[in-house]
Amino acid sequence: MSSLKAKLNMERLPRHIAIIMDGNGRWAQEKGQDRLYGHFHGVESVRNIVEGCAELGIEYLTLYAFSTENWDRPAYEVNGLMELMIDTIRKEIDTLNRNNIKLHVIGDTNMLPENARKELNEALELSSQNTGLNLIVALSYSSRWELVEAVKKIAHDVKDGKVDPAAIDQDTLQSYLCTSDFPDPELMIRTSGEYRISNFLLYQLAYAELYFTNVRWPDFRKENLYEAILDFQSRERRFGKTSAQIQSELANG
Ligand code: IPE
Ligand code: IPE
Ligand code: MG
Repeated sequence: MSSLKAKLNMERLPRHIAIIMDGNGRWAQEKGQDRLYGHFHGVESVRNIVEGCAELGIEYLTLYAFSTENWDRPAYEVNGLMELMIDTIRKEIDTLNRNNIKLHVIGDTNMLPENARKELNEALELSSQNTGLNLIVALSYSSRWELVEAVKKIAHDVKDGKVDPAAIDQDTLQSYLCTSDFPDPELMIRTSGEYRISNFLLYQLAYAELYFTNVRWPDFRKENLYEAILDFQSRERRFGKTSAQIQSELANG
C-alpha cells in the first residue's frame, strides 16, 4: 500500500496539531488486558507520531497526556501512569535531543509526584536549546484550570498597577495562558470515537478544524496522521467570512 504521505500538500501543512490521545483503556480491555497495558502501548504511538510530525516539519505538536480530572481515576491507574511517564521521559530524552525536539509542558505540574517533577524538569532543561519540533505535553492540564489561573494572575497584575483593565484585550489574555508561546492549533485530532473536547484548550481551539477517528490511540500511526492532515487540507477555513471572500483572497494571493 502506498503511503498517504505523497498526497499531502506540503505547502499547506498545519503549523500546530493538537491530539487528545484517547482509548488506551478500552484498547487493552478489548484484548482482555489491564488498562495499564493500553497506556504502555500508547507510548509506541507517541513515538511514532512525534517522529511523523518531525519528518513533516510540523512546528508544534500538543499531546493531551493527562487531565486534571484524570487524578480522580483509581490510584492504581494514576500511579501506573505516573511511573510510565517518568520511565518514558528518561528513556526518550536522548532521542528527543538527537532529533532536535524541544519539550514543553503545560498543566498544573505542582500536582505531580516529586520524582516525576524532577525527571520532567531535567528533560525540559536538556532539550531547551533544541530548535526543531516543539513537543508540548499537556500534563495535569485542563482548560478551565488554565483560564482560572490566567484570571488570577491578571487580577494580581491589575491590583499591582501593572495592567490597566481598560486595556485588556485578546492579546493580553493570550499572554497569560500556558500556551502564550505557541500559535493556536489549526488541527485537533481525537482518537477512540469520542466526540468531545474534555477540557482541552477550550480557548485556543476556537477556529481549529476538528478531526475524530474511531481508531484507539495505541493503534494510531503515521498513516492515520496523514489521513487526518489530508482531511484538514480538504476543508475551507472561513473564520466567519463567506466562501466567496475566501476564494477571492486565495486568488489574489
Ligand atoms: C487516554 O486513554 C489516556 C488517558 C486519559 C490518560 P483512556 O485511559 O482514557 O482510555 P479509555 O478512554 O478509557 O479507553
Ligand atoms: C481526555 O480523555 C484526557 C486525555 C486523553 C489525557 P478522557 O478519557 O479523560 O476523557 P473523557 O473522560 O472520556 O471525557
Ligand atoms: Mg478516555
